[in-house]
Amino acid sequence: MQDVLKLAQNAPDIASLFEADTARAQTFSAQACGMLFDYSKTALTEASLKALLALAKDVPAQRAAMFSGEKINTTEERAVLHTALRAPEGNKVLVEGVDVMPEVQATRARMVAFCNDVRAGRFKGQGGAITDVVNIGIGGSDLGPDMATLALAPYADGPRTHFVSNVDGAHIADTLKGLDAATTLVLVASKTFGTIETMTNAETARVWMARTVKDPAAQFVAISSNEARAGAFGIPPERVFGFEDWVGGRYSLWGPIGLSIMLAIGPDDFAAFLAGAAELDAHFCEADLAENLPILLALVGLWHHQAMGYASRVVLPYDQRLEKLPDYLQQLEMESNGKRVSKDGKALEHGSGPIVWGAPGTNGQHAFYQLLHQGTEVAPAEFLVAMRGHEPDLAHHHALLVSNCLAQSQAMMQGRDLEAARALCADLGFEGAALEAQAAQRVFDGGRPSTTLAYEMLTPAMLGKIVALYEHRVFVEGVILGINSFDQFGVELGKELSTGLSPVLSGAQSSEGLDSSTAALVGYYQSVNAEG
Ligand code: F6P
Repeated sequence: MQDVLKLAQNAPDIASLFEADTARAQTFSAQACGMLFDYSKTALTEASLKALLALAKDVPAQRAAMFSGEKINTTEERAVLHTALRAPEGNKVLVEGVDVMPEVQATRARMVAFCNDVRAGRFKGQGGAITDVVNIGIGGSDLGPDMATLALAPYADGPRTHFVSNVDGAHIADTLKGLDAATTLVLVASKTFGTIETMTNAETARVWMARTVKDPAAQFVAISSNEARAGAFGIPPERVFGFEDWVGGRYSLWGPIGLSIMLAIGPDDFAAFLAGAAELDAHFCEADLAENLPILLALVGLWHHQAMGYASRVVLPYDQRLEKLPDYLQQLEMESNGKRVSKDGKALEHGSGPIVWGAPGTNGQHAFYQLLHQGTEVAPAEFLVAMRGHEPDLAHHHALLVSNCLAQSQAMMQGRDLEAARALCADLGFEGAALEAQAAQRVFDGGRPSTTLAYEMLTPAMLGKIVALYEHRVFVEGVILGINSFDQFGVELGKELSTGLSPVLSGAQSSEGLDSSTAALVGYYQSVNAEG
């Protein structure tokens, strides 16, 4: 890493790199799986790319360990095999000597049969064919399916899907309002079947359903690794879709957690989604490091965050149906690599993953791009854009969308100097001191890095590739930083404290011993509720 850090200290101006090399875009880009990844609008040079590629030397061995079922999630002593959920038929994947693929395929076959029954109206609600599916889950049991069903809306020909995650009663109240309980199917999605938000929402949904139908449990499905808890909730084994502990929550949309996606788009398109991801897996395993998309995304990420010191990365999909991708990536990346110590428990040498945020273009252009272009914080941007949309009769919209996307990365890179700003202000009729003052406002520093992931069209297969690409990017960054990307102990302290605060809020326990801020907030809650 020392070589990379040194090169970053003397990073050249991006625009001058383009002036010096007219073939820069070809050198600093890669194409695979129907995608073009352009990372030329960064300050990377051949020397810094070479130094970064050297950092990836351990990735092939770690990659082989992951795909072959070794327990690379060392703190939880688990294999990491979400890739098995999308592995092509005929593959063998061994965990402790046992091939897990027959079980994976059997569960997928059950999912397909169930989806076909629901979609054909053979599995009915107590008031007729299922019209609406409500997925109750949170984190990995929500973000992936919610993101993917919106992304694949053009393929949706099944029941409508809805997602409830927040324990705020507003979420479930607003979602259930207007739904007919007699034709609604509820999926309780929770790996542990113990997450307080999900179980509270599931109970509320059951009470809601019981007001309309005789047998509410008959319209409930459980998606969980904990069949016993699902059974205790009243859901019989034939409506429990299980998965193993080697599927992490944020990596789980390829299996039963993706049931809502399969219900919406049908088993064939879901199979295409899996096949797309499997194609990307094969690329990740086989392509040279310098042409390997997940490796390149990871190295650009390390260059910007660990080497150049940019605190965040902004994800900008110019694809409205990827509106929820930034939220999904927040969990995937920040829950995976937002760690303070390496696998061996030592303080990280080079910092953990960056803050990930974003929103779709062109909307963001009219909100926060001001800061991206002229603010004093630099946030490397990651553009995503489809070359074709799903609305052929609105092709002029799509052309505008693409030109906006390309123009934004161009503007970030090129900027506008004071001379050009002065000329612009002179054209606008300003003179003298007013011209100088106005020109200063219109200067863009430029040199702001971005990458663009361009892809043909957002099909189920393409979505599978994009998601798998990001998953492997997180893995590669984790390997290079020495992080275990597959545990998440950082979410636990807040959960523990919340459990302790519940009885204090209700007044069953005293607030004595709490810090004065928390005690005062508890007091305010209690006083408002006493009045009300
Ligand atoms: O609190 C974090 C977390 O454990 C995530 O990792 C997980 O995706 C989410 O909660 C939901 O967990 P479960 O599927 O067990 O309800």
